[in-house]
Amino acid sequence: MKIQLAEHMGFCFGVKRAIDLAQENANDHTGKIYTLGPLIHNPQVVSRLSRQGIAVAENIDAINQGTVIIRSHGVGPEVYRRAEAKGLTIVDATCPHVKKAQQAAARLAASGYQVIILGDADHPEVKSIIAWAGSDPIVIGSEEQAAELPVFPKLGVVAQTTFSIELFDCILAVLQTKCQEIQIDRTICTATDMRQQTARKLAGQVDVMVVVGGKNSANTTHLADLCRQTGVKTYHIETASELKQHWFEGARQVGITAGASTPQWIIEEVYTTMQQMEQDDRLKRLEPGMLIQGTVVDVRQDEVFVDV
Ligand code: F3S
Repeated sequence: MKIQLAEHMGFCFGVKRAIDLAQENANDHTGKIYTLGPLIHNPQVVSRLSRQGIAVAENIDAINQGTVIIRSHGVGPEVYRRAEAKGLTIVDATCPHVKKAQQAAARLAASGYQVIILGDADHPEVKSIIAWAGSDPIVIGSEEQAAELPVFPKLGVVAQTTFSIELFDCILAVLQTKCQEIQIDRTICTATDMRQQTARKLAGQVDVMVVVGGKNSANTTHLADLCRQTGVKTYHIETASELKQHWFEGARQVGITAGASTPQWIIEEVYTTMQQMEQDDRLKRLEPGMLIQGTVVDVRQDEVFVDV
């Protein structure tokens, strides 16, 4: 069984920056440190941070002193105002790509455009963009929803950074029929697209795909869906402990990819566990007297000796 890794996978720039900022502050600050919501959608990383003294607060009301880390998804202007009013130290780990989407939404709203955000209204990043997008932004995620909109004089379009490029173009074609004037800000981040493209490519070349990342991570779940859509057997796991040997029976090639919130150490654990499984499986298939590269195999109980 050959194990192949996707060309682009694991931590993206924005997530790595957020983790680095959190760790720097865990070392430098003596007071309490909080993140507003889990720093990333990966339970193993969040519990590691908690062991370093970084707690998760549900919202700004739950923090009265110390440092607040704003995660890569960003927050609205009101949260900055309230954190300042409480005298909290703010560490802003908003991904620069998300910041760009927030600023684009704010600019479009201020210029009189009806802001349309393409994305998932329940995702924290989209909630943060909404908070910058004036009084009445509209969030849609499909061509059908776009088709139901009335006609507006001026539409301003931005997207959740992880939105699909293909879907963005399809929805845009509908939105162009819904206004007299349109301003488009392609706020999609290429890190997600590269992870999706290379996952799809690898899924087309292997017998089994293993997708590593938080079960609560939208981008990891989407990667697993994309792999499944190619018809390949796909497993979404959070850690190596979930791997099962029987998944790989008869597989000649297996692929691994990981979401943008999956750390390198978890990917490495999965890789080495799969290598170990492959080795164990090969040993199980050995029989006494079998020839391996010109040497004779001698199997005694659990051990294998190769006579040279
Ligand atoms: Fe930022 Fe893109 Fe990652 S928006 S958080 S670099 S997926």
